[in-house]
Amino acid sequence: MVKWWKGSTFYEIYMPSFKDSNGDGIGDFSGIISKLDYLKGLGVGGIWLTPFYPSPKVDNGYDISNYYAIDSDYGKMEDFELFIREAHKRDLRVIADLVLNHTSSEHPWFQQSKSSKDNPKRDWYIWRDKPNNWESFFGGTAWEYDKTTNQYYYHAFAKEQVDLNWANPEVKCAMFDVMKFWLEKGVDGFRLDVINFLKVNDLFSDNPYENGEQTHLFDKDQEGILSVISEIADFVHQYPDKFLVGEVGSEDLEILKQYSGLRMLDVVFNFNIGSIGEFDAKTLFQQLTATEDAYNKEQVPTLFFSSHDMSRHISRFGGDKGRAKLIATLMLMAKGVPFLYFGDEIGMRDWITDDISKMKDVQGIMGYQLALQAGKSHEEALLSANEKSRDKSRTPMQWNAQANVGFTDGKPWITIPKNANQVTVEEQLDNPASMLSFYKSLLKLRKKHVALQVGNYKLLRFKDGMIYFVRTNQAEKIVVALNFSEQAVSLKVEEGMKLLLSTKRTSFEGKNVLTVLANEAIILKGDISNDLIKEG
Ligand code: GLC
Ligand code: CA
Repeated sequence: MVKWWKGSTFYEIYMPSFKDSNGDGIGDFSGIISKLDYLKGLGVGGIWLTPFYPSPKVDNGYDISNYYAIDSDYGKMEDFELFIREAHKRDLRVIADLVLNHTSSEHPWFQQSKSSKDNPKRDWYIWRDKPNNWESFFGGTAWEYDKTTNQYYYHAFAKEQVDLNWANPEVKCAMFDVMKFWLEKGVDGFRLDVINFLKVNDLFSDNPYENGEQTHLFDKDQEGILSVISEIADFVHQYPDKFLVGEVGSEDLEILKQYSGLRMLDVVFNFNIGSIGEFDAKTLFQQLTATEDAYNKEQVPTLFFSSHDMSRHISRFGGDKGRAKLIATLMLMAKGVPFLYFGDEIGMRDWITDDISKMKDVQGIMGYQLALQAGKSHEEALLSANEKSRDKSRTPMQWNAQANVGFTDGKPWITIPKNANQVTVEEQLDNPASMLSFYKSLLKLRKKHVALQVGNYKLLRFKDGMIYFVRTNQAEKIVVALNFSEQAVSLKVEEGMKLLLSTKRTSFEGKNVLTVLANEAIILKGDISNDLIKEG
C-alpha cells in the first residue's frame, strides 16, 4: 500500500491571513471551514496549519505560551474539532505546526524557570553565567540577561522565544505528552519547526566566522539530535498513518539526508531547492539531481518554492506568470511531496511596505533596528528591513477585491492598492485561462497518474535552458519538459505520445521530435514499453 502522504499535495495555511469569518480582520477556524470545499476543489490532499496555539505572537505563533489550547483569535477548541471533522469528511488530512525547540517567554514553564536557580523547571531552559558568541537567527546576540538570577538564557530566535533544554529528559516527556494530545485530537501529523536545533553543543564553543558572517557550527545539528528525532518518529508512528515533515535548516545534503527515512522523519524540507533566491534553471536542475544522488531508495524529497518565511516565487523569480506556471509544473510533477503556499495558486505577489510602523515581522523589525544601530539612514534601514521581513508573503488571501485587510490585533493591517497585479479567487474561479485553473489541472493530473505520485525518474536532464524528466512506475511513463529559455528546444522521442497538458498548445501530433516552445511546460504520456526519449 502506498502511504497516503506520498500521493498528496499539502497546502500551507498561514493562520491569520487565510479566511476571517467574524470581521475582526484575523483568519480563524470557522473561516477555514468555510473554504474547505474550495481546497477540495483545488485538488490538494493535506493542509498544513501554521501554529494556532495561544501565543503573544511576537513571532506570530512560533512563540507558544500554552501547548494545549487554541488561540482565541482563531476560535475555540470546539471550532478546531469541527474543522478536523469537516476536513476529514472531505478526505483532507491535517498536519499541525509544532514548535518543540522553544516556548514563549510567557509560557508558565519559563516563568517558573526564571524565578530562581533552584526552581524545578530551572534546567528546562539553557542558562549560563556568561554568554558565548552565538548569534540569534534574527540578528544580534542569542543570549538575554535576566536580572532575577543574574544569568543569561539562550534564544536561537527572538528573545521572547526561549530555547528549551532538550538534554533534560523531563522536557522530552512534556513534549511527547503534547504530541499525544494533538494526535488524539485527530491531527494526521506534524510539521516540526526548526527540528535540527533541539540540541546545542554542551561545551558551548564559540561559532566560527566566515567572510564576516557567523557559521552556525555549534548551535544546530549537534550530537544526539538524530537519536532524539528517531525517538520522536517512533513515538508518532505508533499511531497508524501519521506523517512527519521536518524543517531542517541545513544547506548540506549530507546532513539533511540523515533526518528522513526509516525510523526518522517521513520527509524534510530541502531549502536548497525551495529557497533559491534568483531564478536559474541550471542551479535548479543541479539541486534536483544532487538530491536524487544523495537520497536512498526509501527517501522521498519535498518540493516547494514559497512559504510564510520567504518571498513568493512569482515575485522572487521576476514576476512573470509564464515562469510561475513552469515552476508550478515542476513542483507538482517532479519527484517529491509538494507543499503549495496559500495564494500561489492565484499568483498572489509580494507586498513591500514604505512605512516601518506597518511592519509586523520580528525579523524585519530587528533588521531595521540593527541597521539603524550600525549607523544606516532610515531609508537604508527600511530597505534592509524589507529584505529580511517575511510580511511580504503573509498578506491576506485575496478571495475578492475587498479581502485585503487582516493580520494581528484586530486592526486592518494593510490595504493592498488595487492594481494590475492584484489577483482574486473570485475572478479566476470560472476562468479556464486563469492561474487557478492551471493549478487545478496539474493537481488533477497528479491525482490521476500514479507515476506522478510515486514514480521514479527514468531520466532527469538539462538541455539548453530546459529541465526535462521521465517518471515511471509499473503502469505508466510520463514525460515532463519545462523550457525555461527564450528559444525552442527539440528532443527525440518515441512516436505516438499523447498530450496531457501544455501551457502553449492544445494538441501534439505524436511525431518522433518534440519541439518544446520557449517558456512552454508540456506533459506527455507514452507507451510503457517504449523508451520515450532517445538520448544523444
Ligand atoms: C521556523 C518558522 C519561522 C519561525 C522560526 C522560529 O523557521 O517557519 O516562521 O520564525 O521557525 O520558530
Ligand atoms: Ca477572525
